[in-house]
Amino acid sequence: LGTLFGLGLGPGDPELITVKAERMLRRIPVVCVPKARAEGSSYARSIVNLLIDPDRQRVVELVFPMTSDKSVLERYWDRALEKIVTFLVAGLDVAFVTEGDPMVHSTFIPIHQLISERYPCLAVEIVPGVTSMCAAAAAARVPLVNNAERLAIIPAVHNADRLADALGEFETVVFLKVNRVFDRLVKSVEERHPAKGAVYVSKCGTADQEIVWNISDLNQADVPYLSLVIVRNG
Ligand SMILES: C[S@@+](CC[C@H](N)C(=O)[O-])C[C@H]1O[C@@H](n2cnc3c(N)ncnc32)[C@H](O)[C@@H]1O
Repeated sequence: LGTLFGLGLGPGDPELITVKAERMLRRIPVVCVPKARAEGSSYARSIVNLLIDPDRQRVVELVFPMTSDKSVLERYWDRALEKIVTFLVAGLDVAFVTEGDPMVHSTFIPIHQLISERYPCLAVEIVPGVTSMCAAAAAARVPLVNNAERLAIIPAVHNADRLADALGEFETVVFLKVNRVFDRLVKSVEERHPAKGAVYVSKCGTADQEIVWNISDLNQADVPYLSLVIVRNG
């Protein structure tokens, strides 16, 4: 049987892929790349293309639509799982790549869970990656936490009505998935926590990276999916 490898690709800068993930990506014969739409482009794929040898390795694109409808998601998870297991049972190792780290809000998490439940005999190895949060903190030169401080990671789109709660409780809050609720997030920061500093980072680690310190200057319509906001005391 092959082994399933969850590989973190880091935030987008190929130099931020770990040595271990790169070594595995160059070796593993089947590389699965998640994407949101069958016809869309894949951020992870653009990184993978730099490293693999198409003569020796096969790239399989797996669609995971951006929806919170569990029954739709389960259908796509099952479909993806079936493809992955077919390769593993044929004795081929499979790499499942993710942006950032595989264990932080990634499509690898449900796949890993299903494999463990349904095929406990299959081996899984996970290689961590540089998270978007850590890359953004470094790019903006903002510490995330120090001494007794606490950090919350909030996927904003799923917590739109409670954005201000986390701001009241934690010294630092990283909001991921901000693009669809960006205006509400700006309002929460401005109204409830005007003394806190906020920085917006988009497409971190790529040539199009943007860092904006005054988040009120931004329009929701211009905020891409690959963007986050770090809000911090002081
Ligand atoms: C599904 S989560 C993936 C998180 C990823 N596994 C990680 O470790 O960072 C997608 C969200 O991560 C953030 N993100 C991922 N890559 C990013 C990047 N290069 N720049 C800014 N934000 C990014 C955005 O908030 C995006 O909506």
